[in-house]
Amino acid sequence: MAHDKKIIVGNWKMNLNMHEASLYLLQLSKLVKVRRDVEVILAPTVMTLQSLSLQVNLRQFKLAAQNFFWRDHGSYTGEVSASQLRGVVQYALVGHSERRHIFNESDKDMRNKVAAAVRNGIKPILCVGETAWEHANGETKDVLHDQLIGGLANITSEELDQVIVAYEPVWAIGTGQNALPSDVTAAVKVIRKQIEHLYGAKSAEAIQILYGGSVTPDSAADYLSLAGVDGLLVGAASLEAHIFSSIIEKAHKGSSEAEED
Ligand code: 13P
Repeated sequence: MAHDKKIIVGNWKMNLNMHEASLYLLQLSKLVKVRRDVEVILAPTVMTLQSLSLQVNLRQFKLAAQNFFWRDHGSYTGEVSASQLRGVVQYALVGHSERRHIFNESDKDMRNKVAAAVRNGIKPILCVGETAWEHANGETKDVLHDQLIGGLANITSEELDQVIVAYEPVWAIGTGQNALPSDVTAAVKVIRKQIEHLYGAKSAEAIQILYGGSVTPDSAADYLSLAGVDGLLVGAASLEAHIFSSIIEKAHKGSSEAEED
């Protein structure tokens, strides 16, 4: 199923302080019109989320958490829960490779987080992807299978329409070494096949799948044109409003569909 809305996510990672984030949002809102055919999601650091949520026009941009803990409350020093993020964000990244590899988060963490997000009315963006070693050794398919089974274990087929999957090959993140379109198409096919296996053909068609890894304004259109790719998860190229806005424009099909805010 071709989705009529592309999703463009800017993952700022641990960049931009409160002042910079607020200025960025002001700049981006001048550069990007409200579009019916593009959902723009910003994922700032957790400390800037609250103030951006007061500043943002939700018709124009949505907000995402980069991370959260899966319990709703309790003695978990330093953590923020999905229930605390409820009303502040509409989306949340889960299982980003930096969480998996730097902070050693497991598939058990992923499945609990995916469920916690859904339970709290937040759409999880479950990130999956193989390392360079796994890629070189032909293990991509197995890794994607395992990460999907691991991450979605607590999700029913009714809940699956709240979930977005992002294919981010670890070797393409922050390296400038972007994946070949054929790699992305193949991986997206594997993901849909596995969703079909787990939830049936309808769900496999309906699930939205993003690509992420060294996306730039130059490569954005190529990835967006690939069959089965519903959007992009952008890191470094989302850190400057004018660069990110040109990626958003690539996702917008026709200016006649623009609305004024
Ligand atoms: P880069 O676009 O900087 O490679 O980062 C991708 C990413 O990790 C987005 O979540």
